[in-house]
Amino acid sequence: MSSVWNERAEAYRTSEAHREGADLDLLVEWALGARTALDVATGGGHVARRLREAGLEVVSCDPAPGMGPDVVCRAEDLPFADGSFDVVACRVAAHHFEDVAAAVSEMARVAHRRVLVVDNLYAGEAAEEADRLRDPTHLRNYTEPEWRALLAGSGLAIEQVAVLDKPGARARRRNESGSFWPTASRVRR
Ligand SMILES: C[S@@+](CC[C@H](N)C(=O)[O-])C[C@H]1O[C@@H](n2cnc3c(N)ncnc32)[C@H](O)[C@@H]1O
Repeated sequence: MSSVWNERAEAYRTSEAHREGADLDLLVEWALGARTALDVATGGGHVARRLREAGLEVVSCDPAPGMGPDVVCRAEDLPFADGSFDVVACRVAAHHFEDVAAAVSEMARVAHRRVLVVDNLYAGEAAEEADRLRDPTHLRNYTEPEWRALLAGSGLAIEQVAVLDKPGARARRRNESGSFWPTASRVRR
């Protein structure tokens, strides 16, 4: 599977939809105060870049070497010691993970203070089928209750949820989220 991703590397690096967005701004805001961060499934490296610009010391990881991550690894098997990073971030990638529960559990394990997750929400089987046809690496989006269960199952407590109606939209923050695209969760250990 990683060869598919290697071929997409340049597209992800230059993609405007991935390079910017209110969700990226929010991740940076939520990471402020941290000194170190891990960007899981870094893709074109946009989270890592923005966190570095904000002054954090960042390690990026991704299973596709072509993406140019600092460390080549799957989210399900993070080769880092417990509590290695103040913040662990993962943006618009979990819907590609083969074992999302293992990935969340690994992110919780290596986070010292906080895990930040952004992903699309499940919007029905028709939308899932359309996503899979458009992109065979798409496995599944999750509903908000599923996300809450995944995070809680890894011992994480939800601090804040933000919901964006569409890419590029300004985030509306609240403690309880609805089912829009995408959602960002800030959770603590
Ligand atoms: C949509 S891109 C990520 C976008 C990027 N995080 C950003 O903010 O622009 C999805 C990435 O997930 C990676 N990926 C796929 N399966 C993975 C897994 N099991 N663990 C970690 N990363 C994975 C791919 O190699 C790809 O780089």
